[in-house]
Amino acid sequence: MEIIIQPTPEAGSIIAARIIAKLVRSKPDCVLGLATGSTPLGTYRELTRMHREDELDFSRVTTFNLDEYVGLPPEHPQSYRAFMAENFFRHVNVDARHTHIPDGMARDVPGECAHYEEAIRAAGGIDLQLLGIGSDGHIGFNEPTSSLASRTRIKTLTERTRADNARFFGGDLAQVPFHCITMGVGTIMAAREVLMLAFGANKADAVTGAVEGPITAMNPASVLQMHAVAKCVVDEAAAAKLARREYYRWVYANKPDWQRITG
Ligand code: F6R
Repeated sequence: MEIIIQPTPEAGSIIAARIIAKLVRSKPDCVLGLATGSTPLGTYRELTRMHREDELDFSRVTTFNLDEYVGLPPEHPQSYRAFMAENFFRHVNVDARHTHIPDGMARDVPGECAHYEEAIRAAGGIDLQLLGIGSDGHIGFNEPTSSLASRTRIKTLTERTRADNARFFGGDLAQVPFHCITMGVGTIMAAREVLMLAFGANKADAVTGAVEGPITAMNPASVLQMHAVAKCVVDEAAAAKLARREYYRWVYANKPDWQRITG
């Protein structure tokens, strides 16, 4: 895994947006895997700026989001469909018909999950999957002990994740759904490239476990150690507990020019 330490979340978000923009420019019909939550907001803002000011074109891009709450209709303000519209899709020229998010209102949940996997396959697979990480190491909503081979399915959120996400529901824990449909760890691992972002001190333990700990379902993000092309962009606070952080800085500072992230 390549670890990129940046001074602030803003600087990390700009790096992440550049990585995504480079892919979109080199493969205009690429398939992006997207995430919700606080972490990718700066990346979506920077991609929006690039769309407005630098002609970054999303018209041929297809997107698949990681997850959706079960029981929230798309028009519910806290649904991930609404989140993506509000924070990204409405600001760029992505074709709404090419944006995919699991249907949290599906009557046949297993059928919806199988359909989602099939849609990813039919689109040619995910070129780049953007990820945040939960304070317990979850990716998507694959909570600790999730099968590292899992595919899209229903999951029950842990109490900790529900409490972490209550802030999006006005702090009212009772409003946070108990279930979600999430891409599996295996679905995420099938992406050709993975870009995980982590900002803030409350992510430091999860990041350290994922990057330097053993590969274990107790920290699902640790499976990214087995991915051939995985980058992890962290700010100083999230990097604070990494034993080898000076080494990661040294490697990043001494990359050959052709490997540098620019643009
Ligand atoms: C979001 C998702 C989650 C979040 C994680 C971190 O689609 O799948 O894994 O990335 O819960 O959330 P934030 O960024 O809000 O700290």
